[in-house]
Amino acid sequence: MSELKTVGIVGFGRLGQYLVNELLTNGAKWGLKLGFVWNRTASQQLYDSCGDSNLVLEELSQFDRYAVDLIVEVSHPVVIQEFGTKFVNHCDLMIGSPSCLADKHLEESLLLASNKSNRTVFIPSGALWGGNDIRKMSTRNTLKGLSITMHFHPDSLKLDGELKSLNDSILDKPITLYKGPVRQVCSLAPNNVNTMAAAAIAGYTLGFDGTVGCLIADPNLKDYHKIEIEVTGPSNVANNCRFSVSTTRLSPSMGNSAVTSMATFASFLSSLLNANKHMGKGFQLC
Ligand SMILES: NC(=O)c1ccc[n+]([C@@H]2O[C@H](COP(=O)([O-])OP(=O)(O)OC[C@H]3O[C@@H](n4cnc5c(N)ncnc54)[C@H](O)[C@@H]3O)[C@@H](O)[C@H]2O)c1
Repeated sequence: MSELKTVGIVGFGRLGQYLVNELLTNGAKWGLKLGFVWNRTASQQLYDSCGDSNLVLEELSQFDRYAVDLIVEVSHPVVIQEFGTKFVNHCDLMIGSPSCLADKHLEESLLLASNKSNRTVFIPSGALWGGNDIRKMSTRNTLKGLSITMHFHPDSLKLDGELKSLNDSILDKPITLYKGPVRQVCSLAPNNVNTMAAAAIAGYTLGFDGTVGCLIADPNLKDYHKIEIEVTGPSNVANNCRFSVSTTRLSPSMGNSAVTSMATFASFLSSLLNANKHMGKGFQLC
């Protein structure tokens, strides 16, 4: 049997815990093993879950002491801001918080690092439905419009500034917190709009400036995260009929404060298994 690929997990929140448990339990049958786990605070729960204290990375700046093939970030966009290019110089990278890529400078630095090191930067589809179809349309230059509307319970939203005040003011009716280009909302709600960012990357011909994001806080949406995706393509000049696709994804969440809905955990795991293969330089949806 060929050697197991080694995976480092950066972040030990709900997604990180789920992935660590899957790697420890089932990794070998998928050709994967856990290389390290890092969290902002290394709790006893982290040590207990890893079983072996050597698997706990205490200082993220020392990640390169571990010979890992792939690092999976499931923490916060700021971690990719600080360490993303360093990770890519060392191994493949899967970015769980792709809202960080709204920063053009960071996107360019990651691409440059990937080109130099011939490592892959994987973007998991996460909660994005139909990402590969959107990408195909982009590649054929037939993607004309893309909009993503994300509805969350107000307690699921991790916001700052003006959006936080608006969200805090909600009583019993839904409020649209933002509608406009995805690029701007990524810095306003970085933890909650990763699906919009993944869509902007899938639909790269429209990208962060041409993809429209709408963020709605809905106090009545207690047990689900709801995502609506609207795609438009070219019209048939003969009869003026336009290509369009609309999807609605209703995914149950564990409690009102969860930023990740339940089906998204399994989607992340599938993305991790897709990222098992090194795909060469550049960004790859997985
Ligand atoms: N791509 C997608 O479609 C998608 C879907 C769901 C979640 N996500 C993202 O994946 C990440 C993890 O999700 P989760 O459900 O595990 O969230 P979570 O809130 O349960 O866990 C987040 C973890 O990151 C850590 N963290 C938070 N801020 C940090 C910071 N500034 N620096 C370092 N560490 C920090 C926390 O301590 C925690 O361990 C989040 O960024 C989330 O937005 C992406």
